Amino acid sequence: MATACRAMPVSTEEVAPSLQQGLAERVAAYHRDIRAEFPRLDRIAVAIYDSRTDLLRSFVDSSEGGNPFEHTMARLADLPELARVARSGGIRVIDDMVTHQASSASLSRRLVKAGYLSSFAMPIHHKGAFQGFVFFNSFLRDYFTPSVIRGLRPVADLVALTTVMELEAVRMLQAAVHTVRQMSRARDEETHAHLERMARYARIIALRLAPRRGRSDEWVEFLYQFAPLHDIGKIGVPDHILFKPGRLTPEEFEVMKQHVAKGCEIVEVMAGNFGIDRASHVDILHNVVGHHHECVDGSGYPLGLSGDAVSLEGRIVAVADVFDALTSNRPYKKAWTNDEALAFLTEQAGRKFDPEAVDILCSSQSAVRDIQRTFTD
Ligand code: C2E
Ligand code: SIN
Ligand code: SIN
Ligand code: FE
Ligand code: FE
Repeated sequence: MATACRAMPVSTEEVAPSLQQGLAERVAAYHRDIRAEFPRLDRIAVAIYDSRTDLLRSFVDSSEGGNPFEHTMARLADLPELARVARSGGIRVIDDMVTHQASSASLSRRLVKAGYLSSFAMPIHHKGAFQGFVFFNSFLRDYFTPSVIRGLRPVADLVALTTVMELEAVRMLQAAVHTVRQMSRARDEETHAHLERMARYARIIALRLAPRRGRSDEWVEFLYQFAPLHDIGKIGVPDHILFKPGRLTPEEFEVMKQHVAKGCEIVEVMAGNFGIDRASHVDILHNVVGHHHECVDGSGYPLGLSGDAVSLEGRIVAVADVFDALTSNRPYKKAWTNDEALAFLTEQAGRKFDPEAVDILCSSQSAVRDIQRTFTD
C-alpha cells in the first residue's frame, strides 16, 4: 500500500490522512487527478459490506451523471462472481457488460442502462475481513486491459485505503462511546437491542428521504452508524433518576432532559480528542445527539427549534427512537403494539414529528417486523 501511495499522481498533501474531507470528496478528487492519464475511466465507486446482514451497500460514486446505484443494497449471496472475488481476494474484470449481463444480477443491468460497458472490481480487506469493493467502470468496451489495470491498481489501493481509514475513524468513535457506556451503568438502561433496532429504523427512513433531500449514501451510512449514540448524555444523569422504576416527577424530568446538553459536550470532547472535529460527519453526530428531542412544532427540548431548524438527522432519529421506545418495555411502562405506536406517531405527525419520516416508517412495516424478530431484548 505504501508503494501504491507513492505511485499516485497526486500531491502528498492530498494523500495525508487528515480525515478533514468526506470520503466522497476524496474519491471525486482522486478521479479528477487521474483524468488526464485515464480519460476513459468514467466511474469510481465504493460499496461497503455488512457481514451481519450480507448486504453490500453503494456508498460513494465519482461519476458526474449521478450514481446508478445511489442508495442501493444487494445481498452478496445474490452476486456469485463478486462473492467469489470477495473470498479469493483477486479482481474481477468484465470486458463487455452487455453480453455479460444476461447471466448477471440486476446491478449490472443498471450499470449498462447508465451506459457503462466495462467494469473492474477489487475487494477491500482490512484486519482479515472483507469490507467492500472498489468499482471502476468505463463507457468503453474492453477498457480494463492488463496495462490499464497495472496503471489503475495503485488508485484502487488508495481508494481502498481511504475507505478503510474513514470506516476506522467512525468505528474508533463508536468504540470510544461503547467504552464510556460500559464504564457507566447507563448501559443497563437502554438495551443493546434497542440501539440495534432504532439505528435500523433510522436507516430505513434515511434511505428513502436521502434522494428527496439531496443527501448521499455516505450521509445515510454515517447517520446509521451514529444513531445508536443519541442518548450518550444519559451517562451524566444520576442513577436514582435514570434507573427509577416509576414515573419521573417534573423536577426529575428536568434533570433527565439535561442528557441532551451533556451528550453534546461529550461529542465535542471526543471529536477534539480524535482530531476530527472539523470533519463533516461529526456534524451528523452532533445533530443526532443535539436534536433527537426537538419537535417540528417547536415544543421539543432543549432548544425548542421548529420546522427545518430541526436537523434532518434529529427528525429521523426522533421517529426511530420514539417508535422503539413505545414498542419496548421500560421500567416505567409496558410495550405498545406496533399499530398503537404508529397511530401515536401519525397523530403527532407535523406536531412532534416529521410527517414524511412517519409515513416512511408506516409504509415499511414488513422491514420493521424483520428487525424486531432479529433484535429481541
Ligand atoms: P426513552 O425511554 O428512550 O424514551 C425516548 C422517548 O420516547 C421519550 O422522550 C418520549 O418521547 C417517547 N416515549 C417513551 N415512552 C413513552 C410513553 O410511554 N408515552 C409517550 N407518549 N412517549 C413515550 P422523553 O419523554 O423526552 O424522555 C426521555 C428519556 O427520559 C426517556 O428515554 C427515559 O429514559 C426517561 N423517562 C421519561 N419519562 C420517564 C418516566 O416516567 N420514568 C422514568 N424512569 N424515565 C423516564
Ligand atoms: C461495516 O461493518 O462494514 C460498517 C457498516 C455496518 O456496521 O453495517
Ligand atoms: C457496482 O459497480 O456498483 C456493482 C456492479 C458490478 O460491477 O457488479
Ligand atoms: Fe434521549
Ligand atoms: Fe433511545
